[in-house]
Amino acid sequence: MKQTNIAVLGTGMVGKALATALVERGHRVTLGSRKAQHEGAAAWVAENGENAGQADFATAAAASQIVLLAVKGEHAEAVAAAAADGGALDGKVLVDITNPLDFSQGMPPSLFVFGRDSLAERVQRAAPKARVVKTLNTVNASVMVDPGRIEGQTAVFVSGDDADAKATVRALLEGFGWQQIIDLGDLSTARGPEAYLLLWLRLWQATGSADINIALHGAAKRD
Ligand SMILES: NC(=O)c1ccc[n+]([C@@H]2O[C@H](COP(=O)([O-])OP(=O)(O)OC[C@H]3O[C@@H](n4cnc5c(N)ncnc54)[C@H](OP(=O)(O)O)[C@@H]3O)[C@@H](O)[C@H]2O)c1
Repeated sequence: MKQTNIAVLGTGMVGKALATALVERGHRVTLGSRKAQHEGAAAWVAENGENAGQADFATAAAASQIVLLAVKGEHAEAVAAAAADGGALDGKVLVDITNPLDFSQGMPPSLFVFGRDSLAERVQRAAPKARVVKTLNTVNASVMVDPGRIEGQTAVFVSGDDADAKATVRALLEGFGWQQIIDLGDLSTARGPEAYLLLWLRLWQATGSADINIALHGAAKRD
């Protein structure tokens, strides 16, 4: 993919891993946070050279062609709505990596939305003119940008209503090294990969490793 201005909204381990990988691939990346000047974002900018910048969520999104959403799940809708204000996300690809984790009852977390709705669909309703694609929420931050950490086949999913937006996301994923990219269908199919977190958390506890993932075997893929 040619050099693109990309906003990564989120300064946690996911935001920083994605932002670093995108800068390494030649993109201009603005790391977004609640504040125009964020200590963690400033450190990241200092480490990543002239193609790295920081801004508040809305400014970062407005300055970019593609926007990645990697904030705490409970704030995903509010951040998407703020970024969309004034039409700043109209027509843009909004890549949703968030999980609707509910830690209110302790560990392991449950989900605050599942089954008949998803956080991806909520994000889409919060930013109705963005082209939302859900992906990468089923693996940890390190695996997202380096699927080769896991031996053998390893799958990632995409869900979204817009075919061109999904093609853009597929190109980003291929740039990270993903090979088994499974297009599940429209955005409502994100209900599956979000609910999968319940199993992922148990697999993590059972194995003691976050470098884990699933792959699809035994079915002919359509794409
Ligand atoms: N950690 C993983 O390996 C992993 C894997 C798959 C999916 N995910 C999902 O990816 C997302 C990011 O995860 P993470 O572990 O990198 O970090 P996180 O701690 O879940 O989120 C950090 C981000 O949330 C923002 N945030 C916190 N409170 C907020 C508020 N009140 N209003 C607006 N924004 C707020 C922070 O803003 P500031 O920048 O201003 O501090 C920061 O940018 C989550 O939805 C998570 O479920 C994580």
